[in-house]
Amino acid sequence: MSYKSDRQTLKNIAVCASGRGSNFVALARAAAKGTLKARVALLVCDTPGAAVIQRAKELKVPWVLVERKDFPDRDAFEEKIVEYLQACRIELVALAGFMRIVGSHLLHAYPHKVVNIHPALLPSFKGAHAIQEAFAYGVKVTGVTVHFVDQRVDHGPIIAQVPVAIHPRDTLAALEKKIHAAEHLLYPAALQMVLAGKVRFDGRKVAISRARA
Ligand code: GRF
Repeated sequence: MSYKSDRQTLKNIAVCASGRGSNFVALARAAAKGTLKARVALLVCDTPGAAVIQRAKELKVPWVLVERKDFPDRDAFEEKIVEYLQACRIELVALAGFMRIVGSHLLHAYPHKVVNIHPALLPSFKGAHAIQEAFAYGVKVTGVTVHFVDQRVDHGPIIAQVPVAIHPRDTLAALEKKIHAAEHLLYPAALQMVLAGKVRFDGRKVAISRARA
């Protein structure tokens, strides 16, 4: 298949992020390399001045800023986001440090098509301070989880997990570095499995087919 026709059949994905954007960059780079067979067609950011916006500009990825304060309620906020997603023909939505609880409007528009990355082995250490909490708790192994998003925080069916060992001499900064390195490998790989149709649901359980797409 030629490069051109390949590009034409690529699915569009969007990334929703609020902060630094290292996972956004990892996904955009994987897409550019072709290991993630998708086009990162839109960044949705809810935080003015977030570093991820600058990353989108550098990588020439279209971006929109949608601030919660500009809408009367979460449904109206998500309605605007869905409008942008549909205008860009987005087929899969990847949350990457998006500091908002996703509600029914977005989830109904994209059923089983909203995915999140969490910097711990769920269901341990849910919430916004997972790396610090795992470090402070003294666990010997933590890790990274990619999961489908449902209406509960860090709760939906798990697609993939990878462990990250905490060694006695690791500092919090060292652990953060290891976790982020693991995220940047796992997220593109997990999204690729979803896009390739390799994922089947059985309640909470997600089965990954081994067949090559
Ligand atoms: C990541 O650790 C991700 O797991 C969590 O938020 C962080 C976002 O980091 N949900 P970045 O903005 O992608 O660098």
